Amino acid sequence: MRFQAFSRKAAEQRSDCLVIGTFERSELGDEAAGVDRALRGRLRALLARGDFSGRAGETLLLTETRGLASTRLLLVGLGTKGQFSRRAWRRGVQTAIAALARTRIATAAIALERPGLRELDDYYFGRALAEITGGTLYRINDLKSTRKPRPPALARVLAGPVARSGLPEVRRGLAAGAALAQSASLLRDLGNLPANVCTPRYLAARARALQAVYRRSVRVRVLDEAAIRRQKMGCLLAVTRGSAEPPRFIILEYRGSRRSRAPLVLVGKGVTFDSGGISLKDPPAMDEMKFDMCGAATVLAAIDFAARSALKLNVVGLIPTCENLPDGRAVKPGDIVTSAAGLTVEVLNTDAEGRLILCDALHFARRFQPEAVVDFATLTGACIVALGNHHSGLMSNDDALAQELLEAGTRTDDRAWRLPLTEEYGEQLRSNFADLANVAGRDGGAITAAAFLARFTGGLKWAHMDIAGTASVSGQAKSATGRPLSLVTDFLSRRAGAAT
Ligand code: BES
Ligand code: MN
Ligand code: ZN
Repeated sequence: MRFQAFSRKAAEQRSDCLVIGTFERSELGDEAAGVDRALRGRLRALLARGDFSGRAGETLLLTETRGLASTRLLLVGLGTKGQFSRRAWRRGVQTAIAALARTRIATAAIALERPGLRELDDYYFGRALAEITGGTLYRINDLKSTRKPRPPALARVLAGPVARSGLPEVRRGLAAGAALAQSASLLRDLGNLPANVCTPRYLAARARALQAVYRRSVRVRVLDEAAIRRQKMGCLLAVTRGSAEPPRFIILEYRGSRRSRAPLVLVGKGVTFDSGGISLKDPPAMDEMKFDMCGAATVLAAIDFAARSALKLNVVGLIPTCENLPDGRAVKPGDIVTSAAGLTVEVLNTDAEGRLILCDALHFARRFQPEAVVDFATLTGACIVALGNHHSGLMSNDDALAQELLEAGTRTDDRAWRLPLTEEYGEQLRSNFADLANVAGRDGGAITAAAFLARFTGGLKWAHMDIAGTASVSGQAKSATGRPLSLVTDFLSRRAGAAT
């Protein structure tokens, strides 16, 4: 897919299909009004006849385009004019791309009305356009034995019209969004693969493949079970005990800045299948626990993005990965294990395994003397109860870091919401038998999970993102979503001085 910006009037831009938006009650914005003039009023006439309502989600493809430089015209409903917002625009772009993907159109010029610059500046306009295009065209790499439908013909998307002075920023945004879309499809592919394919060893192989592609900037090391034991990662070893698949601990190092600059460390939960272990989960929707490695996939995709975009910063990715299964050798409720940090942990619930593998990774992070550590994990059902599927949960011991991540989420419409992380929550993890327990009851479960992790962060600036509700969707459209990669890549780009 190629993305370009144009600054001609929409009517004068050549393409296989010009895309414009109209509002309900036949209201036109500036772009559509210009196109209507070039069409000598035939657009308004069509709306007056009631042939197109302008409701969100609606489209109409016209092939009689005398007066336009494009050979087709796609109308996209943008909803009520008074309520036009960035969200309505995003939906409009999605609707347009989905409609184009059902045709044989190769080059489309997208000239939808744009929200005000204050709501969506040139850089983020380009970034969002390319990101949404990639996300809408994404197809699950399924294992169906029937022949695959033909892929969409859409190969070039032109964005505009953009004022000449805005072209460089839009182009930079388009490039960032295109890179993001590619990394996001890596993330989604990994998430969507079944757990019998996407094993810890498979994740390690995909990490090594990144090193093969970006030989000059990415280095990958993989610890096998014996090396994990030498690191004394007793909590990771406890979780993996019930599985016949060997665990891995993956270390990715991306270098885009001078060696002396402290890196950012990203940690991702890589439970390739979470049955709950001896504390077995209920059967309904247990298949979705193949998505329990989406934190790991986020980290792989973030490193992929940094290398693809040659960001000027250093990033370390740490991925503890294993399965969580019941077995005669599996860790049992009440077992006490020793973490790499030396703290003993009473495993009261074997289904609270994410925090166990993460605590050993957070301890490992200290050796990089990082600028900050951010972990990503499908960690708790409680986070879904608290925030639903719209915001990722954010918990942090550092207000500035938390703010930075929240703002990245707002700019990219990949939002997070901060939950409190005060001492009381940590106190709930007291155990009579070990330094701490791995669970603290149902209430405030997303926060007590974070409080557990906080015990292993040393003095580091640290943030935790609970993506249990955002990384995948259930039901008919069951799939990994690619979240929170948009937030993360914007955070990285800003730290590297590469975003506006
Ligand atoms: N992977 C799950 C969390 C999860 C649940 C993600 C639903 C996505 C959808 C995690 O390992 C887990 O099982 N957490 C437990 C913690 C509890 C035992 C304290 C949970 O949320 O029930
Ligand atoms: Mn679990
Ligand atoms: Zn889990």
